[in-house]
This record gives sequence, C-alpha cells and structure tokens, in this order.
Amino acid sequence: MRHVLTADQFTRPDLDRIMQRAAEMEIILKKGGSKMCDGKILGALFYEPSTRTRLSFETAMMRLGGNVISETDVTFSSQTKGEVIEDTIRIVGGYADIIAIRTKIKGEAKIAAHYSPVPVLNGGDGSGEHPTQSLLDLYTIVKHHRIGEEKLKVAFVGDLKYGRTVHSLAKVLHKFDGVELLFVAPEVIQMPAEYINPGDSIYHELTDEILQTVDVIYDTRMQKERFEDIEQFNQVKNAFIFTPEMVNQMKPDATLMHPLPRVNEIMQRVDDLPQARYFEQALNGVPIRMALIAEALEI
Ligand code: CP
Repeated sequence: MRHVLTADQFTRPDLDRIMQRAAEMEIILKKGGSKMCDGKILGALFYEPSTRTRLSFETAMMRLGGNVISETDVTFSSQTKGEVIEDTIRIVGGYADIIAIRTKIKGEAKIAAHYSPVPVLNGGDGSGEHPTQSLLDLYTIVKHHRIGEEKLKVAFVGDLKYGRTVHSLAKVLHKFDGVELLFVAPEVIQMPAEYINPGDSIYHELTDEILQTVDVIYDTRMQKERFEDIEQFNQVKNAFIFTPEMVNQMKPDATLMHPLPRVNEIMQRVDDLPQARYFEQALNGVPIRMALIAEALEI
C-alpha cells in the first residue's frame, strides 16, 4: 500500500490486516511507543481546519519515533502567492518521507499523489472522501460488534451529501456481508447516488423504529461551510438533535458514533450514556494512523 486516497482501494484482506496492525499499535502505545520510524518525517499539509486528523497523524508519527513538519494555515503557505499543489507536493515530498494532506477540493489528494515522490495519505478532500477516518470508524465498530459474522444494521444520519466521512465509511461497510445501511437525511442533503448500493435504504425522518432496531448510528455535522445556499442550511441545520431520551431508546449494546467536531447535533448530556462512543472513536485515530504510516513506509 503506497498512497491512501479513497476507500475504494481497500480489499477485505487489506481491511483485516489494517485492523490487526492497529491492534498491535495499541499494544505499542500502551508500552510508551516505539522507534520504528526513527529518522522518518511526516509532512502534514492541512489546508482546511482540523483538530483530530492532523493531531492524530502527528501523534502517530511521534509515537513511532519519527518527526513532523506541518503547514496548517493556507494563508502562511506559498499557495497564497499562487503556487499550485503539484509544486508544493514535489517540494514537501523532498523534505518528508510521507505526507498527510487535507484540501478543500474534492479529488485534490489524488492529484497530489500523482506528483508526490513519497506516499500521500488523504486526510479529507473537500466533500469527497476521508478514507483514513473510515478505517478508525471501522476499528471502532470492530471493537464492539461482530461485523462480517453477524447481521449489522447501520444508520447514517445528518449531512450525507457534503459529509466526506460517510462517503468513505459507506464504501468500507459495503465490503462486508450482512451489513444493512440506512441513509437518514432530508432530501437536499441525502447520500449522493455514487455512494448508494442496491439494498441500502433511504429515509428522511429518524423514526423510533430506526432508533430501536439499529446496531450503529453514525451521526454527522451539517457542513455549513459547504452549502451554496445559506437558507438551505438554515432549513436543515436542526433536522436531527440527539437527546438522552432518543439515545435511551437505542439497544443497550448499540453504538452512537460521530466523526466530530459536533455543533449541536448531539446534546452533551448524551456523552455519559453507554451507547455514546464518539470520543473513543476519535482516540482510535492514533493506532489506525500508526498502522497506516507503518504500512505506507513498508516498515
Ligand atoms: N473527524 C475529523 O476529520 O475531525 P477534524 O476535522 O478535527 O480533523
């Protein structure tokens, strides 16, 4: 595995291997880290805001004994002087051994990879994909559910049109037998057709029956920054707000996930309920990204 650009690229054996590798990385983390990336440098190019993805990539490289160089604000990048991504990548690929990149433009991580002399890991490209997030999401599901062995009903809720995490995770979950996907969103922000498989179900309301029967709910933020029409955003922004009463309807062993950041779509009073696993989910980003760095560097 060289670049990580889209969830399409993962085969089932790839997914199984990365989950196993992440579990091994958790053991390494508990022992205080390793030196397996001694002398290696991660270039973190983040041209959109990020807390979890950038910092977990950086933590992952440092826990593996490597170093990090970062460009985290496009206003301080030579891109503001007119430099194109192709040139930036050629240069940073000469400084670093591996690059994690987040861009505003769907498909730009793929362009970056084309020009990069080193592996490129897509940390989110506009409203396109977020494939490394889909792996930490899968890792969270694997820890709590017998995916692939038992039937699993997963509901995606919220902004499914612009939310790149759901695009990648739907692609990943489609690779498992026995997984039923429900897409719950107002029509204007429903899942784009390219991510829907025959057998998936479309809903516009989050009904009690859905709450009571699903194994996993994957909630998402309304991506205000990607709406072309602010009125349309205002109409849907409060479409789904998870309350403790709603989450208490879920099965006791069900999982409520969210890639974070959240705004108002999950009340803070939900956080202590057993179904709420979004903070654990975010922490899983470190062992997953350690596994991806090690794989991409062939260590
Ligand atoms: N989940 C996620 O991508 O979070 P950040 O935007 O904070 O990186």
